[in-house]
Amino acid sequence: MSDVTAKLISVLGEGRVKEDEPMAKHLNFRIGGPAKWFVEVKNIEEVQKVMEVIREKGIPFFILGGGSNTLVSDKGFDGLVVKMTMRSHTIDGNRVKADAGVISAALARVTASAGLKGFEWAISLPGTVGGAVRGNAGCFGGELKDSAVEATILRGTEVMVVSADKLKFGYRDSAIKHTDDVVLDVTLELEQGDPEALKQVLKNTLDARKDSQPLYAGSAGCMFKNVELDPEEVASILPLFNGELEGVFEIDGKQRISSGWLIEKMGLKGTRIGGAEISKEHGNFIINHDGATAADVKGVIDLVKHEAMERFGIEMEEEVKLVGF
Ligand code: EPU
Repeated sequence: MSDVTAKLISVLGEGRVKEDEPMAKHLNFRIGGPAKWFVEVKNIEEVQKVMEVIREKGIPFFILGGGSNTLVSDKGFDGLVVKMTMRSHTIDGNRVKADAGVISAALARVTASAGLKGFEWAISLPGTVGGAVRGNAGCFGGELKDSAVEATILRGTEVMVVSADKLKFGYRDSAIKHTDDVVLDVTLELEQGDPEALKQVLKNTLDARKDSQPLYAGSAGCMFKNVELDPEEVASILPLFNGELEGVFEIDGKQRISSGWLIEKMGLKGTRIGGAEISKEHGNFIINHDGATAADVKGVIDLVKHEAMERFGIEMEEEVKLVGF
């Protein structure tokens, strides 16, 4: 037994530490080699203890939420994966405080049933609220930042409450993404609403997602962030799209191009490398069509990025976290 395993067992207990755990078991992609060590943490104290071991042993680590937005290489991850499995929430008036491991869609259902309005969009969001804070997740008109008021984080050895403005939310971005801080919980402030009407919104949102995205297959959701460009850059490339602009939007004063639309325009939908396929339904989904390897998926990612750069001078950026490449 390695030193690290022994130390982790001493803080978490027997049966709580896995070695060479296949990540394919934990990721929506159903792809990924083994993590050298793997633990599930159930409360803040356990997160603190595990992070202490990480610091003491100087080992690489990453935090796993719902496994919806991560791709691990075929050779795996030579470090510790810490899966957040604390899943409690409390409601106090219009405020909801949810542990990092709470599944976003479950929280959307809970808040709608409680007659709290503003988190319905998350019914179609795979993954946990901790992951949603880290990436300022968003879909169907909502973003985590719209209702977040504060989060509890672990920074080094210190547990602290950080207000939303300090989290510096941006498009699929937050301050957390650029540090080793760990999200422990988040507090949302919602509005009063009618539970029946809110449940209808949940249903409509789920239907819209099913209509436009390939939910039946293993994937990590949208692979790339939508492309943000300056107005001048947009003006220079728009003629290349022959005036068809349904995938170009203005959000918060910035021009954004839907990556799915761009990939469709490049004629790449349906492209396959090994078992990985660019979805025919939504160009920004790479699906595990048939026993794909992480290398197959990476091949598709590189192909898309290469084409976008060659043809439009556009640099596409992954939204999905790539680990062990
Ligand atoms: N479109 C196409 N072809 C495609 C994909 C899209 O023509 O293959 C067109 C659509 O018809 C629509 C426009 O492009 O006119 C925008 O498409 P969509 O509404 O699907 O939105 P998106 O910008 O492609 C974003 C998020 C999704 C989220 C949807 C719905 C990003 C990177 N993606 O996609 O988030 O579910 O809006 O709100 O911001 C995710 O983050 O994993 C994700 C899937």
